[in-house]
Amino acid sequence: MSARTTRLFLVFAAFLAGLGTLFGILLFVVRPDSAMAPSAAAIGGPFRLVDQSGQTVTDQDLKGEPYLVFFGFTHCPDVCPTTLMELSDVLDKLGPDAARIGALFITVDPERDTPAELKDYLSSFNPRFKGLTGDPAAIAQVAKSYRVYMKKVPLDGGDYTMDHTALIYLMDKNGKFVAPFNVRRRPEDAAADLRRFL
Ligand code: NI
Repeated sequence: MSARTTRLFLVFAAFLAGLGTLFGILLFVVRPDSAMAPSAAAIGGPFRLVDQSGQTVTDQDLKGEPYLVFFGFTHCPDVCPTTLMELSDVLDKLGPDAARIGALFITVDPERDTPAELKDYLSSFNPRFKGLTGDPAAIAQVAKSYRVYMKKVPLDGGDYTMDHTALIYLMDKNGKFVAPFNVRRRPEDAAADLRRFL
């Protein structure tokens, strides 16, 4: 190959590689795990849990309003409090409309997160949050239906922490998964995005 042909070939190869990467990213975004998440419609499902006041909450109670779902735990050192703070800012920006949107914080640590524990923890955030807990089997089931990864990780001294998926799920009025909800933007923009689903 002449030098010119070689260069053209390299440019073309680089272009193809770029295209491949882009395609890979798109696939990843659309289907984070095609084996586990065959379609968006398969995310979410029926649940029966208890909120921070001891009231039973089921997916049916949320029908008719869009809602956000976030899985976490009260002992989480950083990701959960940061996300709850960001979501609180968004809910604050919604003003009275916030009353028409559900916001669920479902624990991945039912062992420690009792309703009382959740109530105390959530008092630092927007009052719209419903903190949900339940017996380990009920939590495992709801986590599975949302394709949430959760794993107990032992710490020194007998303590433990939880690894978990930190995605925020936006569900529409019919309880159907819409998309992951992005809070890494101005709260007013995120609030405007939510209003579209009212
Ligand atoms: Ni967390």
